[in-house]
Amino acid sequence: MNEKQLVSQALSKTLDGVLEVEQIAAIIEKPKSSDLGDLAFPAFQLAKVLRKSPQAIATEIAEKIDSTGFEKVLAVGPYVNFFLDKNSTATQVIHDVIAKGKHYGDEQTGAGRNVPVDMSAPNIAKPFSIGHLRSTVIGDSIAKIYEKLGYNPVKINHLGDWGKQFGLLITAYKKYGDEATITANPIDELLKLYVQINAEAKENPAVDEEGREWFLKMEQGDEEALRIWKWFSDVSLIEFNRIYDKLDVTFDYFTGESFYSDKMDAIVEDLENKNLLHESKGALIVDLEKYNLNPALIKKTDGATLYITRDLATAVYRKKTFDFVKSLYVVGGEQTNHFKQLKAVLKEAGYDWSDDMVHIPFGMVTQGGKKFSTRKGHVVKLEMALDEAVDRAEKQIEEKNPNLANKVEVAKQVGVGAVKFYDLKTDRKNGYDFDLDEMVSFEGETGPYVQYAHARIQSILRKAEQKVNLEEVPVVVSDSEAWEIVKFLKEFPNTVKRAADNYEPSLIAKYAISLAQAFNKYYAHVRILEKNDELASRLALISATAVVLKESLRLLGVAAPENM
Ligand code: ARG
Repeated sequence: MNEKQLVSQALSKTLDGVLEVEQIAAIIEKPKSSDLGDLAFPAFQLAKVLRKSPQAIATEIAEKIDSTGFEKVLAVGPYVNFFLDKNSTATQVIHDVIAKGKHYGDEQTGAGRNVPVDMSAPNIAKPFSIGHLRSTVIGDSIAKIYEKLGYNPVKINHLGDWGKQFGLLITAYKKYGDEATITANPIDELLKLYVQINAEAKENPAVDEEGREWFLKMEQGDEEALRIWKWFSDVSLIEFNRIYDKLDVTFDYFTGESFYSDKMDAIVEDLENKNLLHESKGALIVDLEKYNLNPALIKKTDGATLYITRDLATAVYRKKTFDFVKSLYVVGGEQTNHFKQLKAVLKEAGYDWSDDMVHIPFGMVTQGGKKFSTRKGHVVKLEMALDEAVDRAEKQIEEKNPNLANKVEVAKQVGVGAVKFYDLKTDRKNGYDFDLDEMVSFEGETGPYVQYAHARIQSILRKAEQKVNLEEVPVVVSDSEAWEIVKFLKEFPNTVKRAADNYEPSLIAKYAISLAQAFNKYYAHVRILEKNDELASRLALISATAVVLKESLRLLGVAAPENM
């Protein structure tokens, strides 16, 4: 039974059915300050029914209530304040955490149902942007959070690998490309070709026409066209995979837009049969006026399909293949309109499951206040930033713990973890400034700060060499610092749920910071290893803290080194 249930049940007994347990639970609040107890019941609503002042009602309740499980129950003005019995609360939570370990907070809500997570999705032959990095890191964390709640996340990298631009790129390659140069430095070279040929195509319709024809050939399965396109894709993926390795993120599928090239006819036909396609200047559109949206352009004049056409086919394919409960798209805020249109078209076509598609937008990253640009330097720039983060982590470890055995490994976990953590602690819809100094700092609200708290606990536990089974030690709460920790530990399962409901890993990152701070206060205030009766109780408290810190970090895709 959680504390809210405990309070509601005690109240409902005292109130003799005036309010149902559920009604009471809905009214109970968390007091603003902890000296007003752990939970409070405002008596206002009862005043009318009982024809007494809220103050009088509160006083009466406090006198009559059965206070089993509470340290005390006090009336303060119109409120009844409940102070939980700290020792029994602490013992219960800590035993639960230690017994369940990393499974503390697991739920079966998802019942194994599939949740596709569309994430990362860079465009081949183009730079991997900081936006793609955000999508990768946020998507990975959301997948982990959903998995913890019993869902089966399906991580899909919806690569941008189809469209007329690749026809143009083939044209450019045929004209000026050189295999060896491209192989040596694929993204930079392909981008150069792309920029050059686009400029040319604007001037010269014949070049544009040639690009269009190559794309047409691609769509018709022409061997040469597909061979060159596939090669662009392969060399790009080699580059992208280096980033994924560094980030330690994996995917279930690399099914990009090209995967749906043979699945678009069906949805276009479907829209046609439902009389939703209209001709406008030779192109085919779906009118979305009643959604207050611009018309969705489904096919161009020349019959070529578009980004949204592929996303329509994708959505239908995912519903058919995964029978999802929810289908998530972690894509930057600048595509909000695209996803509104996508859902509206599907809705028009009668697919009610389109309501289960969720666009999860995120904000932009700046550097020194300016837009973070990967235009020049490209993938390399992001990789360099990650490497630089690792270097900085290594320097700090060198200072703090020069004898650490697996320094290189730990520096990677700390450096890369710092970048991820910083991204994830930001409210998703906000942007942030990419500042490595701040990210990799061991002080402040950072990943390394949380990792360090965890490693410090591990080192205390190693020193303690305790032989007792912490799972059975009764926990004694002898100071407010310990009680703070206990309250956070209790909050963890709820935090995970809120993070899932809001698609907001930042709730877990902020939680982890608070828990690490609470531990550091405890550490500063209490002599944990002192040999007295409460030693085992203290060890139980900190070992539960370590479990939850580590699990919080895991949900963010950040490692928790034992030593640093
Ligand atoms: N490739 C796109 C881009 O870089 C993102 C794709 C997102 N996923 C989707 N199903 N549309 O902007």
